[in-house]
Amino acid sequence: MPHAPHVPREDDAPGQGGAPAVPSFAHRDSSQAAFWDERFAKAFTPWDAAGVPAALRTFVAAEGAPRATLIPGCGAAYEAAWLDAQGWPVRAIDFSPMAVASAKAQLGPRASLVEQADFFTYAPPFTLDLIYERAFLCALPRDLWQDYGRRMAQLLPSGGRLVGFFFLKETQKGPPFGTAPDALDALLASDFVCEDARRVDDSVPVFAGAEHWMVWRRR
Ligand SMILES: C[S@@+](CC[C@H](N)C(=O)[O-])C[C@H]1O[C@@H](n2cnc3c(N)ncnc32)[C@H](O)[C@@H]1O
Repeated sequence: MPHAPHVPREDDAPGQGGAPAVPSFAHRDSSQAAFWDERFAKAFTPWDAAGVPAALRTFVAAEGAPRATLIPGCGAAYEAAWLDAQGWPVRAIDFSPMAVASAKAQLGPRASLVEQADFFTYAPPFTLDLIYERAFLCALPRDLWQDYGRRMAQLLPSGGRLVGFFFLKETQKGPPFGTAPDALDALLASDFVCEDARRVDDSVPVFAGAEHWMVWRRR
């Protein structure tokens, strides 16, 4: 039987599973921008989808009208360029200067759509209809998750939606820090109602089989 491809993880032994060796890193705390800077600098970005996921395209096509959208922890921000091209008001933020540089390079003439900012203190320039999540909650150490839930609820007016991809898998280590569905519900349900949840099948290998498209509406 063929072996499943090995997904590189930071705790791999060098060259494990025939995969290229994972670089060594000085920074281990993913609550810090330096952690992410180092991974972008060493081109270790296994979360990067290199494009716009199918479930987002489907969601946008069904909306029928532009929605003012914030993308926190945007990384290379492919979705910002694409939403902007659909005529949607969009801002993308990331606290890592290396991530912002990568997003600005990718956005080209629309580079001003991305800002270097911390999600927990950022004030968007417009009232939000949506916040788009991909690989952001699972990037945060779990001791920041309550703050994540609170900040999402502060940023979105009643009726606004938190939409995107959640990594529904219990993991010991991270990032990515996965979550059981019940734990995500406990985190968000006091301020949000879940309107849609479905597993997707176009995940990058680190999220394969456990990435779910979800829509949470602010109460
Ligand atoms: C795993 S990457 C995901 C990037 C992107 N969302 C994607 O799907 O490719 C997580 C990103 O969140 C950013 N990040 C982490 N904590 C942040 C914070 N408090 N404020 C803004 N960005 C943050 C990191 O710098 C990193 O670029």
